[in-house]
Amino acid sequence: MIKPDAVGNGHTGAILNDIIAGGFKIVAMKYIHLSKETAGAFYAVHAERPFYGELVNFMTSGPIVAAILEKDNAVEDFRKLIGATDPSKAEAGTVRNKYAKSIEANAIHGSDSDENAEIEGNFFFSQFERF
Ligand code: GTP
Ligand code: MG
Repeated sequence: MIKPDAVGNGHTGAILNDIIAGGFKIVAMKYIHLSKETAGAFYAVHAERPFYGELVNFMTSGPIVAAILEKDNAVEDFRKLIGATDPSKAEAGTVRNKYAKSIEANAIHGSDSDENAEIEGNFFFSQFERF
């Protein structure tokens, strides 16, 4: 997911370029503005964390780009491409190093396991929206 800060700051095209240059195939993609209910459900695993309310507010502050990506070793390689959660700790050249502003407005989301990638892909896309 390209988050509202990066979309709003005009970084969508540059981030998609980095993703494609990194060897990822785009299987599905859409441009949507999440409701509080949808964003809250997507980040339900963080419901008990102190920043959950702020995170839901941020994720609904503007449209996002959701995508399903395919590659060998995709989860690990994508997390390398995007860098650390906190952009001040993200390696030079990573998406968060280049485009993120703060630990919350950190430009992009990547699934943290194959299992969660499956769940999160099914959250946004039907079988007819994957190519
Ligand atoms: P995602 O790819 O978005 O899941 O990020 P991540 O896996 O690198 O981090 P994590 O799953 O731990 O946290 C999910 C999201 O919550 C982060 O991407 C941030 O947007 C936000 N977040 C994480 N830690 C903090 C924090 O300490 N404060 C605030 N305000 N937001 C946080
Ligand atoms: Mg995470």
